[in-house]
Amino acid sequence: NKTGIIFDLDGVIVDTAKYHFLAWKHLADDLGFEFTETHNELLKGVSRVRSLEILLDIGNIKLSEEKKQEILISKNEDYLSYITKMGPEEILPGVTALLDTLDGLGIQYVLGSASKNATLILKKVNLFERFIGIVDGNSVSKAKPDPEVFLLGAKMLKLKPEKCIVFEDAIAGVEAANAANMISIGIGDKQTLQKADFNFKDLTEISSDFIKELSTIKEK
Ligand code: BG6
Ligand code: MG
Repeated sequence: NKTGIIFDLDGVIVDTAKYHFLAWKHLADDLGFEFTETHNELLKGVSRVRSLEILLDIGNIKLSEEKKQEILISKNEDYLSYITKMGPEEILPGVTALLDTLDGLGIQYVLGSASKNATLILKKVNLFERFIGIVDGNSVSKAKPDPEVFLLGAKMLKLKPEKCIVFEDAIAGVEAANAANMISIGIGDKQTLQKADFNFKDLTEISSDFIKELSTIKEK
């Protein structure tokens, strides 16, 4: 009757959303329109390609496929200039303590991220070795809110979806977890993530008792 955990990366383990925002904003500046933090919410949890489509819609701009490919490469180069400077001090509050708790309880965990940079980021913050598996933007064909990323995570954990607990900071991610029939935990603004089964501000609020309680849940 075991449970397992699937962690989203950006916004749950590390605050890389701010670097994505800067890179998309530079792009919007170059294209000559305003891109705000509110706009940026729509891009959270969404794949890189889809993010560009949303951004171009906001700017009301149409570009050729060729130009889009070019832009995606330069956006990622800009993003990577921030990522390569990251270190363990950028791990979000409560993450390391929660991983220690899970290790103590013998509960396994994997990563379930839309990012193609997930492995690099985990290595930068020295967390890569702790995960028993990584599902990222390179392993899926359908992006969140499709459940594919989390269903692959359940396979890695060798658990049924209903025994998996997902930590997510994005609307698309909570929707993906719900569609996978997993227990969804929203991290961040409760109002934004109201579709989650449980809500917390950040991982410092997750107690070992709460994890133990969830482990006894049989079905949603
Ligand atoms: C998600 C982020 O985790 O990964 C999105 O929330 C991002 O904002 C997506 O667009 C893809 O990331 P990357 O690193 O492959 O561009
Ligand atoms: Mg996220």
